[in-house]
Amino acid sequence: MEASQRIELRMAYTLFTERSALPEVQATLLTEAEGVLRAAYAPYSRFSVGAAVLLSNGRVVLGTNQENVAYPSGLCAERVALFAAFTQYPEAELVGLAIAARNPQGLVPQPITPCGACRQVLAEYLQRTPNRNVWVLMGGTEATYLLEDARDLLPLAFRM
Ligand code: THU
Repeated sequence: MEASQRIELRMAYTLFTERSALPEVQATLLTEAEGVLRAAYAPYSRFSVGAAVLLSNGRVVLGTNQENVAYPSGLCAERVALFAAFTQYPEAELVGLAIAARNPQGLVPQPITPCGACRQVLAEYLQRTPNRNVWVLMGGTEATYLLEDARDLLPLAFRM
C-alpha cells in the first residue's frame, strides 16, 4: 500500500425546473411539507420551513421550524420531523424527506438545503437503513432538487 492516497468523493442530484416532472411519491411528500408551513413558528426570522418524513410503514410525519426568543433554543423543521417520526415509530426506517420554505414574499424560488446540524441528525438515522437509498427532496417554485441518496449530504459525518 502507498503511504498516502487521494480519496475523492462525488455527489449528484437531479434538478427539476418543472414541478410536473417530479415523480408522484416525491411530489406528494413535497405538497405535505408545503401544507404544514402554516404551523411554523418563526416570528424572529420570518422564514418558515416545513419538513415531511416518509417512513417504511407508509406513515408521513411532519415538522416545522420552532423558534424561541432565546434563539439557540429553537429547532429546524427537519429535526422536529425526524425526532417526532422516530419517537412515534422507533422501528420504522426512513424512505424520504421533503423540505419546503416560505418567506414573507411567499414560497422560496430556490430550494433550501438542510443545515449542517440537521445533516448530522439525518446521517445517524440513515445508519438504520444501510441497504436503502433514502431520498431528499428540496422544493422551490423555480427549482426543486432531488437528492437520490441522502448519504451524499454529509460525507465523513461524525461517528463514534
Ligand atoms: N431552518 C430550518 O428549519 N431548516 C433548515 O434547514 C435551515 C434553517 C430554520 C431555522 C430558523 O428558524 C429559520 O429557518 C431561519 O434560519
